[in-house]
Amino acid sequence: MSVELRPWTDQDYEALVHICNHIDRTYLSDTIPNPYHLEDAKEYIAIANQSEGQTGIYRAILNDGKIVGNISVVKKKDIRKKDSELGYYLGKEFCSRGIMTEAVRQILLLSFNRLDIIRISAYTFAENIASQRVLEKNGFIKEGIARNSFFKNNQIHDEFLFSILKEGVK
Ligand SMILES: CC(C)(COP(=O)(O)OP(=O)(O)OC[C@H]1O[C@@H](n2cnc3c(N)ncnc32)[C@H](O)[C@@H]1OP(=O)(O)O)[C@@H](O)C(=O)NCCC(=O)NCCS
Repeated sequence: MSVELRPWTDQDYEALVHICNHIDRTYLSDTIPNPYHLEDAKEYIAIANQSEGQTGIYRAILNDGKIVGNISVVKKKDIRKKDSELGYYLGKEFCSRGIMTEAVRQILLLSFNRLDIIRISAYTFAENIASQRVLEKNGFIKEGIARNSFFKNNQIHDEFLFSILKEGVK
């Protein structure tokens, strides 16, 4: 099984629309439009390409040559400008095959090499064990819990904060 990351292109609109309409959204932010339309994909890919290498790294995740997900590291601002946020998702049918563990490994190296950052943060729902395992398997440390921080589908959830430092990534 091969896992590769590559920049998004304007050939990928339909693939991104398909994935975003087939993600398990239980533990995702509500900022990803639902349903996801062609215009949403165009807007996302335009922003990704404008920001690439400056304020973020944005990549399509390919499994055996097919786009199966999305992953990004985006710099924070102001006094947090050396920090950044990791985000990711896979189409439902591609989960639990080790794909995201490998995608995170690759984007850590890219991000610390190309962005002026010293730290990558990641935030999960307390219940999102799969996501936490992906982070832990890549050397992220759980730093804390923000109690009752998330409100989604009329329910309150704790948020877990993870991070990895540049000095810890070889
Ligand atoms: C969360 C997500 C990114 C994980 O990606 P993935 O490719 O399925 O993850 P991997 O297969 O690389 O690894 C998953 C790990 O979690 C474990 N896992 C999965 N579900 C689990 C559960 N319910 N309880 C305990 N462990 C679980 C797997 O066993 C594996 O760990 P292991 O290798 O130690 O056995 C993917 O499921 C996804 O995109 N979900 C929807 C969007 C989302 O939640 N994004 C993250 C927001 S923070």
